[in-house]
Amino acid sequence: MRHVTLVQLFDHPITQKYVKRSGMAHAVACAYHAYHLAIKHEVDPDRATKAAFLHDIGHYTWYRDGQWDYNLYKEYDIHAIKGSERAHKLLIRLGEHPRTAKEIALAILLHTDSYLPNGYLELNPLQHVVALADEADEEPGGEHHYRTISDRRARRMLGLLDKKVEAHSNKDFIERSM
Ligand SMILES: [Fe+2]
Repeated sequence: MRHVTLVQLFDHPITQKYVKRSGMAHAVACAYHAYHLAIKHEVDPDRATKAAFLHDIGHYTWYRDGQWDYNLYKEYDIHAIKGSERAHKLLIRLGEHPRTAKEIALAILLHTDSYLPNGYLELNPLQHVVALADEADEEPGGEHHYRTISDRRARRMLGLLDKKVEAHSNKDFIERSM
């Protein structure tokens, strides 16, 4: 059973503030990529779409003298850590199941290794799908963070995606009970 929808997440002021900061168009596009990748990799689309939608919710603005400072960002960014915690808090507040909230938080924590010491991370299938969804919408020079989308269109697209996810979980449920 789904506890929280993408539209509920979209409507929350925390999402409006922080997901808009990193780019709503990118977040919606990633959620769609995550849906298709989840089906392909046999991962739960509910978790994958929510994690992909919220994956950049932890971004901070690194400005110096009114200009974006990429060096400061590279040096000090922890958006995956911050986002993981922020998304978890938001999901729990909206009534998400704690197990689902934890899995989504972990997928956000591991969607990039840019802030981690060099090494090798072994991702589980959900975490892998969320990282792939982000990559699928990336543009050179971080341009994907600056694409725009109207609130109306973003909300409508997330509503359509909610319907797809629900149809998929109902189908899954019927197949399991046959
Ligand atoms: Fe991203």
